[in-house]
Amino acid sequence: MPAKSKPLKSLRAWKALEMHRKTASQWHLRDLFAKDSKRGNRLNAEAAGLFLDYSKNRITDETLSLLIKLANESGLKAAIEAMFRGDRINRTENRSVLHVALRAPKGASIVVDGKNVVPDVHAVLDKMTAFSERIRGGRWKGFTGKRIRNIVNIGIGGSDLGPVMAYEALRHYTDRNLTFRFVSNVDGIDFVEATCDLNPAETLFIVSSKTFTTQETMTNAQSARAWLLKGLGGKEKAVAKHFVAVSTNAEKVSAFGIDTANMFEFWDWVGGRYSMDSAIGLSTMLAIGPDNFRALLAGFHKMDKHFRTAPFEKNLPVLMGLLSIWNNNFLGAETVAVLPYEQYLKRFPAYLQQLTMESNGKYVTLDGRHVNYSTGPIYWGEPGTNGQHSFYQLIHQGTRLIPCDFIAFANPLTPLGDHHEILLANVLAQAEALAFGKTADEVRAEGTPDWLVPHRVFEGNRPSNTIFADRLTPEILGALVALYEHSVYTQGVIWQIGPFDQWGVELGKVLAKRIVPELSTAKTHRLQHDSSTNNLIRRYRKLKQ
Ligand code: F6P
Repeated sequence: MPAKSKPLKSLRAWKALEMHRKTASQWHLRDLFAKDSKRGNRLNAEAAGLFLDYSKNRITDETLSLLIKLANESGLKAAIEAMFRGDRINRTENRSVLHVALRAPKGASIVVDGKNVVPDVHAVLDKMTAFSERIRGGRWKGFTGKRIRNIVNIGIGGSDLGPVMAYEALRHYTDRNLTFRFVSNVDGIDFVEATCDLNPAETLFIVSSKTFTTQETMTNAQSARAWLLKGLGGKEKAVAKHFVAVSTNAEKVSAFGIDTANMFEFWDWVGGRYSMDSAIGLSTMLAIGPDNFRALLAGFHKMDKHFRTAPFEKNLPVLMGLLSIWNNNFLGAETVAVLPYEQYLKRFPAYLQQLTMESNGKYVTLDGRHVNYSTGPIYWGEPGTNGQHSFYQLIHQGTRLIPCDFIAFANPLTPLGDHHEILLANVLAQAEALAFGKTADEVRAEGTPDWLVPHRVFEGNRPSNTIFADRLTPEILGALVALYEHSVYTQGVIWQIGPFDQWGVELGKVLAKRIVPELSTAKTHRLQHDSSTNNLIRRYRKLKQ
């Protein structure tokens, strides 16, 4: 049983922030900027190639200092050390949480149960490297002797979202002679569409699953095996040439029929949503090559070092975490919009949804109390400028407060005319418009008739962060992901919840397993659900052809 911690709302800094909030509710970003001409030059921080401008948040120096007091009173420093040291901070599963070990340099030492895990991490990286070189160099042949041209990653959640996001984000660096597909949904369409134009003789499946028991992944893997065998004349031996696995569960991998020599291992101290830089990143390495993959890891590691060592007032993940607490718990925001002005990052918001919401979507503290404050906000978003023409209306003039994380790069990877400057002008304009708005006087001064004025006023005072970097390289992507990972941890520590388990996904899984046979053997099963579920099942049985 974990020791009881002091309830969050009884902490001195929390109470001080409650008081401070009353003053803060009077502030407008317009005035905060007008009072301090250097605000935009002061309220920022930089690390691992990322520049964070947080000046367009509704904060003052006092707010920041109170938030940092809250972090200190919550024991954040000790919590960070506990994670890096390999303590079993995933208490409900009694596990260490060591995604930081996945990017630790060779020669580092991180000890779990008396064993330094870093050499194991590098052994797997070396195995991935050798395999990637064989595939990319055409030396790994399929069953009929043809080289592999198509790679299909089968996985879901953390075994899919990271690989997809990284593939899309780093597409500029990928080998265009290889085709990559990602199958996650148990909806058969996902598999059918991903494979309908592929030649089985040239296709390699990576079955990615930490547990190797996930219903969707195992169902898709079985369909993949059937598809392959059908295409290659039913020869069982073909499986070894066309399937590899990424998992922590050698027994299940072998039971599926994949030789464990073709298994890339990771460990129970890597959470699914923190695993894109483990062997789960095999598809990423195949796509961008081992050197770029190692650059990605180097970016993660730079941000790790920064998180562990930088003082809180200069610490990017800590600042972002604390600002999120301020917006969520004190200003009443319920969501965060993540808005990358970089088309390659189009899957980044979806990736962050699992990272943030599966981590901090909890209403019970580590010591088992129901919280009496909000925890993880809802993350969502789309790349700019597309979102500007759909949901930004609500962010500018709606009734809800929606803090935004803008992400932008100084240089495009593939310059095209003046596109990039137009893109950049838009991201800067949006953050400016959200913060400063447009007053009724300004609208009137443009000759707007009185009746139209209220419709054209922008209240402003909408908070945002801008994360700015030179260009989207593998290293920068690593730093960016690590920034959010550690910001999630910062928030979890303050909310006193455990960001590394996910019990909330279990119930639905169990119920679905119970319902499957009821759908397929209509007559033999008496339905014992609630009347709504029973009725829907009966309707399905009638409609089923
Ligand atoms: O159902 C949630 C979850 O357990 C995620 O946390 C995880 O990333 C995903 O399922 C996939 O799990 P696995 O890699 O074990 O197949």
